[in-house]
Amino acid sequence: MTTDTSLDRYGEFEQVAHFRDDTNGLDGLIAIHSTVLGPALGGVRFRRYRSGFEARNDALRLARGMTYKAAVAGLDLGGGKAVIDGDPGSVDRVALFRAFGEAVESLGGRYITAEDVGTTVEDMVTVATETGHVVGLPESKGGLGDPSPSTALGVLASLKAALAFLDGGSTLVGRTIAVCGLGKVGAVLVRMLVEEGAAVAVADVDGERVTALADQLGVKAVEVEDIHRISADVFAPCALGGILTSNLIRELDVQAVVGAANNQLATPSSADLLAGRGIAYVPDFVANAGGLIHVAWEAKASLADVQTKVLELGDRVTDLLTQAAEAGISTQAAAEKVAEARIQARLDARSQLGATR
Ligand code: NAI
Repeated sequence: MTTDTSLDRYGEFEQVAHFRDDTNGLDGLIAIHSTVLGPALGGVRFRRYRSGFEARNDALRLARGMTYKAAVAGLDLGGGKAVIDGDPGSVDRVALFRAFGEAVESLGGRYITAEDVGTTVEDMVTVATETGHVVGLPESKGGLGDPSPSTALGVLASLKAALAFLDGGSTLVGRTIAVCGLGKVGAVLVRMLVEEGAAVAVADVDGERVTALADQLGVKAVEVEDIHRISADVFAPCALGGILTSNLIRELDVQAVVGAANNQLATPSSADLLAGRGIAYVPDFVANAGGLIHVAWEAKASLADVQTKVLELGDRVTDLLTQAAEAGISTQAAAEKVAEARIQARLDARSQLGATR
């Protein structure tokens, strides 16, 4: 295996390591954005990228997001992410993920991996044969299983807190929620919303997923290009990132945007556009932190305790919306301030410790 470990080549990143092994098709990057609060935890994505540049950018922006997610969630973890560029249909997954496990191990615990888009709990079991720095394991291996239901629970708590902040309403009965993306998180979220009495509209590029949920739960099926236009209380993006473009924001007819997808803002100015339209945006790295809380506590807490911690995200959302309103800034800016203040406080404590030694 060849390893190109480039420290500080990307300024704010602590480490970006490239791993390549032609014997099993491993061509990947591990990006460590920050380890100030603790080891950098973030999942590994496995998909075919159009270029090495695209793969690297994906790893970098996702790693940075993990730093903020962990910091706002109050976890003693830093931010990192890995990507593997390859064709999932034409590799020996066991050989590939063993090699990836070796790569994780070589970083000595500075990076902890988990599943993400394109990777599974089974892949993490393979990774665990080579390194202990892996979470998201099944219960049979000491883990708590798939974190997606915890992510959905955190989105639900965030969404309820946002609506309660906006109009004092404490129930979802009589509310309409538009969910875009019905995968591991979106489908569970839809079930939870229906159980809470909300009217739900759903869309996904995979028509079979839409039909299955519409048939099972009686939710309203909507075309992907129309889901953001429907008149609803909340738009919940649960597919891919970059969805909140200026055009889409202009067409929204909701009070709030709260969803699971990572990196929802198409550009930094999207946060101000949402605020300008009076739409409460719960930053993705706050709303979707349930999965991170789930894996961070695996082997240390029961699922019931983890769920209690995930539900506390609702209080964080209330605090954030309050701070943003008081300071006259976007919720994205308010959340970033909270994260950066926590990281800076840890750096200050460290330098004080150094000064007194
Ligand atoms: P998934 O891969 O299981 O589901 C994604 C769904 O989105 C699929 O049903 C897919 O058909 C659909 N989709 C793809 N492109 C679409 C489009 N353009 N329009 C509408 N639907 C589209 O992924 P998962 O795990 O449910 O995650 C969803 C999002 O939440 C991702 O952005 C992920 O990074 C993020 N996330 C997931 C966490 C988890 O615990 N699974 C944790 C934190 C964030």
